[in-house]
Amino acid sequence: MGSSNCNLEVGGLCKTLLIFCMVLYFVFVALSNQYPNCPASEFFSPFWKTSFSNSISISSSALSPTIFNDSKTNLSHLVFGLVGSEKAWHHRKAYIESWWRPNTTRGFLFLDKEPTAGLLPWSGASPPYKVSDDLTKFLNKTDVTAQRIIHGIMEAFREDHENLRWLVMGDDDTIFFLDNIVDVLAKLDHTKYYYLGGQSEFILSNYWYSFSQGFGGGGFMLSAPLAKALAKDMENCLKRYAYLKAADLTTMSCIADIGVSLSPLKGIHQMDLRGDVSGFLSSHPQFPLMSLHHFDMVEPIFPSMDRAESTRHLMKAAEVEQSRMMQQTICQNRQSNWTFSISWGYAAHIYERIMPRSYLQYPIETFKTWGRSPRPPYYMFNTRRPSNDPCEAPHLFFFESIEKTPKNEIFTSFSRAWPRGLLACSSTGNHSAEIISKINVFSPATKHSEIGRSECCDVVGIDGTKVDVKFRECMTDEIIA
Ligand SMILES: *[C@@H]1O[C@H](CO)[C@@H](O)[C@H](O)[C@H]1NC(C)=O
Ligand SMILES: *[C@@H]1O[C@H](CO)[C@@H](O)[C@H](O)[C@H]1NC(C)=O
Ligand SMILES: *[C@@H]1O[C@H](CO)[C@@H](O)[C@H](O)[C@H]1NC(C)=O
Ligand SMILES: *[C@@H]1O[C@H](CO)[C@@H](O)[C@H](O)[C@H]1NC(C)=O
Ligand SMILES: *[C@@H]1O[C@H](CO)[C@@H](O)[C@H](O)[C@H]1NC(C)=O
Ligand SMILES: *[C@@H]1O[C@H](CO)[C@@H](O)[C@H](O)[C@H]1NC(C)=O
Repeated sequence: MGSSNCNLEVGGLCKTLLIFCMVLYFVFVALSNQYPNCPASEFFSPFWKTSFSNSISISSSALSPTIFNDSKTNLSHLVFGLVGSEKAWHHRKAYIESWWRPNTTRGFLFLDKEPTAGLLPWSGASPPYKVSDDLTKFLNKTDVTAQRIIHGIMEAFREDHENLRWLVMGDDDTIFFLDNIVDVLAKLDHTKYYYLGGQSEFILSNYWYSFSQGFGGGGFMLSAPLAKALAKDMENCLKRYAYLKAADLTTMSCIADIGVSLSPLKGIHQMDLRGDVSGFLSSHPQFPLMSLHHFDMVEPIFPSMDRAESTRHLMKAAEVEQSRMMQQTICQNRQSNWTFSISWGYAAHIYERIMPRSYLQYPIETFKTWGRSPRPPYYMFNTRRPSNDPCEAPHLFFFESIEKTPKNEIFTSFSRAWPRGLLACSSTGNHSAEIISKINVFSPATKHSEIGRSECCDVVGIDGTKVDVKFRECMTDEIIA
């Protein structure tokens, strides 16, 4: 079944070229040794299709917590290896310091050379640094950038592997969401072999490099036995693939040769996008947010804040609660014919008509492609085109503040970014939302349980310029449309 699904989703080809499809089917079956997880289906299906529970079922046999004796995985079992350059660290350290917990998070930053005076004394809010091993002699060449990154895996493992369960690798500009990473990893048996990572959002990057690789900027995670095997094979592997120039492709190749394939996770974001990524982040797939990347390359994610401020602002929400971070929750208000779409901790939209969740799950294409691409498809997901139609264009609100209430709730407020500047949607009764300047969201202080279903919400009050929205579990038979 899995294979034939892969086949059918490759394209409209099947309708006209049934026989070609049959041939493809057998090719997929033949290749199934190479791609046991049927990645073609993963690649061509929309990214939200795979819910958290589905996507870790790739190895459901390893999932049951009863089969391993160890204590529950927590942050102390993770070691981080971040590879960066001395030059970029001056401005990129803001990204890492936004999530790094000094004396709690284990791991190192690997630099290409000793830090210069501007970085000394070394900040206590930064990860401790090491200078990467010099590989120029070993590889007999001067530019060893790609190999330095890969070798960082071995160096991180070598430096600190006592009680290590997971090795997490990232760049010097990867923003990790630690609590969500721990929650995801705690569901997996760290004594088995896992290579967890994220694909590029830009289809052609996956095609150019590999659909089978985890993109390093989004970060990837290796279970302890895999990290150990890879560290042991590191020198051979660098020689074996010396002809490859790309670090992530080489890493994937070395891991593939150990017998392990990538399990792509929808919460890991390489963010191969450009411009305004707010549309993307407002329709995040239904999976815990684990990382963001490329904040240097995209516009600041909050209006009127710079990149470093934006990062710290987002972390204000992440420090309080991560299970809901950027999860999309949708509710409708029938009296006004408005639909609310809330990306928790980040942004909120009001639409002036009733829209179903099936539609709102597609990001509005506020962003541009990572590289030049002559024709669609551009992205690994479907999008909605931005529109000036008052029945289609949202009113935009961004995360402003967060606090815990005495009633054991979390209160987050979202404030209007700018006037929408359009007339009201007339076909749904001319109920303009222009007057609304603030959306207050109340969510439970407990984590959102991962039952493979989004939360629901109610508009509990519209008072002049303010709207109050309350999150809750969806009712058994509730339909969000
Ligand atoms: C798990 O615990 C059981 C009972 O305590 C023990 O018999 C078994 O050897 C343990 N397994 C491992 C892999 O440690
Ligand atoms: C993490 O788990 C270990 C046991 O493996 C335990 O000793 C430690 O206290 C735990 N740390 C936290 C912060 O819960
Ligand atoms: C981390 O630990 C060191 C030494 O153990 C201590 O000097 C430093 O103040 C600690 N930093 C933080 C942020 O707790
Ligand atoms: C190193 O590379 C240079 C030029 O590419 C070559 O002449 C030399 O023989 C190489 N040395 C070794 C030890 O392979
Ligand atoms: C909501 O919109 C529908 C058309 O989609 C319209 O028939 C209905 O009257 C509107 N309701 C209100 C309260 O304006
Ligand atoms: C909404 O306003 C437009 C223009 O002001 C008008 O033509 C239309 O009939 C109104 N629609 C409703 C449902 O009131």
